[in-house]
Amino acid sequence: MQRTAFLTCLLTVSLMNQVCGLETVTGKYGDTVEIPCNSGLVSDVGVTFVKWKSDKDGSILVKHTGQNASSPTDGNYKNRVSIKKDFGLIITQVSLADQKTFTCMVVAADDILEYPVQLVIYKTPLQPQIANLTTAMEIGKLTTLAQCHTEGANPAANITWFKNKTPLIADGTAIKITNDVAVDKATGLSATTSKLEYTAVKDDINSKFTCQVQHIKSANMDSSPLVFTVNYPSETISFHVLPDGPVKEGDNVTLKCTADGNPPPSRYNFYIKGEKKTVEKSNIFILSNVTRQNTGEYKCSLVDNEILTASKNITVEYLDVILSTTGEVFKKLGDSFETTLDIKASGKTETFCKKGGEKMVGPPKFASLKYTDSGVYECVVTMLGLKKTQTFDLNVHGQPLIKSLTKKRGDGTNKILSCEAEGSPKPTVQWITNGTDVKFQESEHVNGKITYYITVSPKANVTVSCTISNDLGSDTRSIDVSSLVEDVTMDKQDQSEDYSDQTALAVGIVVGLMLAALLIGLAYWLYMKKFRQGSWKTGEKEDGSAEESKKLEENQSQKAEV
Ligand SMILES: *[C@@H]1O[C@H](CO)[C@@H](O)[C@H](O)[C@H]1NC(C)=O
Ligand SMILES: *[C@@H]1O[C@H](CO)[C@@H](O)[C@H](O)[C@H]1NC(C)=O
Ligand SMILES: *[C@@H]1O[C@H](CO)[C@@H](O)[C@H](O)[C@H]1NC(C)=O
Ligand SMILES: *[C@@H]1O[C@H](CO)[C@@H](O)[C@H](O)[C@H]1NC(C)=O
Ligand SMILES: *[C@@H]1O[C@H](CO)[C@@H](O)[C@H](O)[C@H]1NC(C)=O
Ligand SMILES: *[C@@H]1O[C@H](CO)[C@@H](O)[C@H](O)[C@H]1NC(C)=O
Ligand SMILES: *[C@@H]1O[C@H](CO)[C@@H](O)[C@H](O)[C@H]1NC(C)=O
Ligand SMILES: *[C@@H]1O[C@H](CO)[C@@H](O)[C@H](O)[C@H]1NC(C)=O
Repeated sequence: MQRTAFLTCLLTVSLMNQVCGLETVTGKYGDTVEIPCNSGLVSDVGVTFVKWKSDKDGSILVKHTGQNASSPTDGNYKNRVSIKKDFGLIITQVSLADQKTFTCMVVAADDILEYPVQLVIYKTPLQPQIANLTTAMEIGKLTTLAQCHTEGANPAANITWFKNKTPLIADGTAIKITNDVAVDKATGLSATTSKLEYTAVKDDINSKFTCQVQHIKSANMDSSPLVFTVNYPSETISFHVLPDGPVKEGDNVTLKCTADGNPPPSRYNFYIKGEKKTVEKSNIFILSNVTRQNTGEYKCSLVDNEILTASKNITVEYLDVILSTTGEVFKKLGDSFETTLDIKASGKTETFCKKGGEKMVGPPKFASLKYTDSGVYECVVTMLGLKKTQTFDLNVHGQPLIKSLTKKRGDGTNKILSCEAEGSPKPTVQWITNGTDVKFQESEHVNGKITYYITVSPKANVTVSCTISNDLGSDTRSIDVSSLVEDVTMDKQDQSEDYSDQTALAVGIVVGLMLAALLIGLAYWLYMKKFRQGSWKTGEKEDGSAEESKKLEENQSQKAEV
């Protein structure tokens, strides 16, 4: 009972001196304190000596008038105490052991007076320390969040917990706060430890918790804010399929399962074609290189709670294309040719075919093949990003055919012979002049057409032949090439024309003119003969006839000039 009364007194004393009927002096732990004797009002007139004493230690220090004070030579106060002129006791390095009542005894000639003074020592606590900190709290479950500790205080410090700056009040169920005060045996200082147990709610995801140390002799001290992960179980689950759009054969499909719990589940079940597959530390399952057989319903669930599921239907789009013609195709000139596309697909397709830059509506179809139809044909079928390309190389073959064999004047005495031909595969050529081969040049073989050239300079009339051949047959043609002089005169008339044709034409014209002249001459002779006979008989129209004959003569001379 006495102790409690004393403690209460101690606590209150600190607030106001001079309570409990006893003068009180408050000192800071470790500092030097001065304990006054009768508030410093003792007059040294008539005083024999002054003695400071305490209940426990007995006499501490005595000072006779006119003498030096007698300092203790041993014990607690050795070298720690001294006395002031006004008889106040000075104690250095006070500790909790000095919390007691010191009495100043003043002995005068005929009186002894005692002035008891109570010494109270305080010490401010150290900064709060957080220990046993947890990282996560679970909704609805009482969890020890942390311990807050402070020490070295007198009187003991209080610890108060705050959530978002509001003090937490223990209610014994959702919030439990356990405080513990321990007194250090050596120093007598108190350590306060407070444990916070807390039941989280969903709103606590961003709550900040702090521990505050409160002490009568110091400002409040806050710990750094504590933030916890709030754990809660999943309530919904969702299932995603990537890519987002249509799934095509050959795609890699990613199945992704997501639950809303915190922390997110680390394991999931995927149901692939009815077969359960559990993935650990991931929420992804990859179907690689899918085919139409992968079309179906896919599902996922939590491993710990298989009732929570989500599902999706996946349709794998496919496109099969077969062109009836592939690779290299050989066809004869003039044949008919057709190719077809066989398309099997899961949706609407688009088709186009082309040869070089030339597009066509569908697969090519020909009633009668020409050399120009040769080439690489490409048919492209597309559907929802799927694309299939089929190609074939059409080769139109035909037997060689010489279209023309012509001669032209070249440099100086040279003559250039051209043998223009058609045929595929490319025919080989042989030029023969006067029984021997001649070296030749050739154009490119395009669309079955080719021209071979030789340059000759014959000393006499020769016959030159061009013979072409390939697998399918051969063709030959000859041309007469006369010696230089003649050809030059002929070339003067028309260099670009076919020599043989030109010669025929020239001969024709000359023969024609000669015949015409002959006929006119005959007609004139007959007429003259008749006219002379007639004039002899009649004598009429002599003038007119003379004019007519003149005209005829003129006409004839004109024709002769032609
Ligand atoms: C008192 O102390 C002072 C200094 O410590 C010293 O000089 C003096 O002699 C002392 N007096 C007596 C009477 O011992
Ligand atoms: C708190 O942590 C201390 C060590 O720092 C340990 O000794 C003590 O057992 C822990 N208390 C609890 C309740 O976990
Ligand atoms: C410490 O807590 C006690 C009991 O709750 C209270 O009476 C006292 O005023 C508190 N001290 C401080 C400094 O808050
Ligand atoms: C699918 O994944 C494989 C390797 O996992 C990769 O080689 C392939 O290119 C992917 N296919 C597609 C269409 O992304
Ligand atoms: C994808 O599957 C098809 C047939 O199923 C196969 O021909 C192809 O090589 C596969 N592709 C890859 C990248 O595995
Ligand atoms: C998948 O398809 C089946 C059959 O057509 C249907 O019963 C089911 O509800 C579909 N599932 C989803 C997730 O659309
Ligand atoms: C043709 O060949 C014969 C013998 O090989 C030769 O004598 C003659 O001169 C040649 N004629 C021409 C025009 O080259
Ligand atoms: C060459 O042929 C021409 C006709 O084309 C003929 O008139 C001429 O006599 C011939 N010359 C020789 C040398 O045979």
